[in-house]
Amino acid sequence: MLVVSEACERNKGPILAVLAAELAAQRAVLEIGSGTGQHAVHFATHLPYLTWQPSEMRAQLPPLIERLRREAPPNVRAAIALDVHDDPWPAADLDAVFSANTLHIMAWSAVREFFRGSASVLPPGGVLCVYGPIRYRGEYTSASNAQFDQWLKERDPQSGIRDFEALDALARAQGLQLRADHAMPANNQTLVWHRPA
Ligand SMILES: C[S@@+](CC[C@H](N)C(=O)[O-])C[C@H]1O[C@@H](n2cnc3c(N)ncnc32)[C@H](O)[C@@H]1O
Repeated sequence: MLVVSEACERNKGPILAVLAAELAAQRAVLEIGSGTGQHAVHFATHLPYLTWQPSEMRAQLPPLIERLRREAPPNVRAAIALDVHDDPWPAADLDAVFSANTLHIMAWSAVREFFRGSASVLPPGGVLCVYGPIRYRGEYTSASNAQFDQWLKERDPQSGIRDFEALDALARAQGLQLRADHAMPANNQTLVWHRPA
């Protein structure tokens, strides 16, 4: 039986609308933390000019591989094992990185590795898109996000909703520039950085 994320079903339409614009000039996307594979299938189906490279931590790969086996269009590459701590990242020939709802799950040390690794695979003109809940100057964008953050931290003190300013500092230190900040449904954002050509 396929693992289904209800959140993915809700957010895949709005995220697709953003990616269609932000990745219009790109050709190959690495997805970090592909989870159930619903995003990979949806985005690759609707953006057929892109090659989509799904990835997951090795222990999480089986449900992803099963969904891709059943549903992936031809422009989806075989899923690869990738932990953001890998150095170097086992992926090449890409010009975009996408990740949804991962930075508040992983520890801050891993978030640093996410930006280090993303920058390492992005050529000039490359694009990085990150979807999820974000704080601004330490402020939540909604009461529900504040409650969600508390829940995350009770479950894992190293996790938590990240501050835009801290993420942007990591991106800038890697030579990436913020290109857009899209407000998304349910108090989420899609942040877009690029490596200047
Ligand atoms: C909340 S799930 C989101 C999954 C999917 N992107 C989605 O939107 O449904 C968080 C994901 O982050 C991944 N993850 C956590 N730590 C990671 C790490 N160190 N490297 C790569 N992925 C990681 C998990 O395996 C999991 O798939």
